[in-house]
Amino acid sequence: MTTSLRTVPNRLSKTIHQTSKWGAKYKWGPQETETGMCRLSLSQEDKNVRDWFVKETKSLGCEVKIDQIGNIFAIYPGQKKGPPTGIGSHLDTQPTGGRYDGVLGVLAGLEVLRTFRDNNYTPQYPVAVVNWTNEEGARFPKSIMASSVWAGVSSLKDIYAIKSITDEKPVTVLEALESISYKGKTQANCNENPLKAHFELHIEQGPILEKETKKIGVVTSAQAYSWIGVNLKGRAQHTGTTPMDMRADPFLTAAKMTMAVNEIAERHLGLGSVAELHISPNVVNVIPKTAEFIIDIRHATDVGLENIENDIKRALENIVSDTEVILEFKRLFHNDAAHFDKSCIDIVQESASMIVGENKTIKMLSGAGHDSCSTTNANVPTAMIFIPSKGGISHNPTEYSSPEEIENGFKVLLNTIITYDAR
Ligand code: GLV
Ligand code: MN
Ligand code: MN
Ligand code: MN
Repeated sequence: MTTSLRTVPNRLSKTIHQTSKWGAKYKWGPQETETGMCRLSLSQEDKNVRDWFVKETKSLGCEVKIDQIGNIFAIYPGQKKGPPTGIGSHLDTQPTGGRYDGVLGVLAGLEVLRTFRDNNYTPQYPVAVVNWTNEEGARFPKSIMASSVWAGVSSLKDIYAIKSITDEKPVTVLEALESISYKGKTQANCNENPLKAHFELHIEQGPILEKETKKIGVVTSAQAYSWIGVNLKGRAQHTGTTPMDMRADPFLTAAKMTMAVNEIAERHLGLGSVAELHISPNVVNVIPKTAEFIIDIRHATDVGLENIENDIKRALENIVSDTEVILEFKRLFHNDAAHFDKSCIDIVQESASMIVGENKTIKMLSGAGHDSCSTTNANVPTAMIFIPSKGGISHNPTEYSSPEEIENGFKVLLNTIITYDAR
C-alpha cells in the first residue's frame, strides 16, 4: 500500500537548487555555466554543504555521527533501538559536474525525514541519512572511497595517504579531513557502526529510461569497474632535430594505448576510456619526457572485466616492447559487480509500480558505480532507484531531471523506507 503521509510538493527540488550555491559557478570551457557544479570532496564548498546538512538534520531531532573518514550519519530516532535503515549517497560532485548526481540521494533522504517530522511519524527503527565522503573519486582518485572503507574493502590507513590530483599543492585525504574538521570519532566500520539496509535514489546518468519512456528504474545490479594508473617515461628532445626513428615519445605511446583500450573493451562487450592525461613538458617543440594517464574499464560481469584488464596489460607491454619508452602501471581502484538484495529490490518494485504504474518501471543494471556497491559488499541488504536523466547526460553541467521525475523518485523512496521499516 502507498503511504498516507502528506508530502510537500517540490520541496526536494527547491532544496537541491538552494544548496547548489555551495560549489556553483565554475568555468566550463571558456564560459561560466548556470547549472555547473564543482563541489570537490573535502573542499571548502563541501564543508559548507556538510555544515548545513548537519544543522538541518539536528533541527529535525537527529543524532549526527561523523566517522573517521568523514562519512556523516544523521540518525532519526525510531520507536525501538537497533541499526538504522540507511538512505545514502554523496554531496560531492565532479569538477565539471551538474546538480543532481549524488546530491539527489542525500537530499531525498533529508526530505524523507522532513516528511516524518511534518506528519509526527516515528518509524519502528531509526532511519539514517548518510553522506558518503568522496564518492566521485575526482579530487582523490579512488571511486566510492569512504563507503568502501566503511565496508572494510579499503584500509583507513591507505586511504588517508591518498593525495589529491586537483590541487596545485597536493594534500592527503587525512590533511583535507582535518582542514575542514570532518575527521570524526565514530569508527569507519560497518560492524561498529552498522546499517540495517541501504537505499539510494540516484539519477540514471544514462539514456535507457528516456529511450524506453519509463519513469523509474528498479536497479538490480551495478557493473564491475577498475581504474589503472599508467606512467610512461620517454626522452625530452628537440622536435625539429630528432629523426622520427630516434625518438622515445611517451605521448605517441599513450595515443596507441588509448586506441588499444577502446578496442579491447569493445571486443569484450565492455567499456573503456582514458583520461587524466598529463604530459610534461607540454610544449610545442619539445618531445615530452613523461605521459601519465588513468584507464577506466567496466563490464557487467567480474570475469568480463578481468579479461579486459588482462588483455589491456598485455597490449600495453606489447606497445612499448620495441620502443625506449618505460612503462609502469598500477591498479588504483577496483570494484566487483554488485548484485542487490532480492527482497529490497522487490520492495522498490512494488513501491514504483504503485506510484508510477508497473508499465512505467523497468528492471535495469547500473552503468556507474555507487556507494550502494560498497554497502552490498558489506552484506547490507541494498537496492537503488533510478529516475531519468535528460538526454542521458551526466557528469556535465547540463545534467537534468525534472521536478516531476524527482518527485516520483522521492515518493518511491519514501514508500520503500516505510514498507521496509514496517516489515
Ligand atoms: C562512480 O561515480 C563511477 O565513476 O561510476
Ligand atoms: Mn553519483
Ligand atoms: Mn558521479
Ligand atoms: Mn558515481
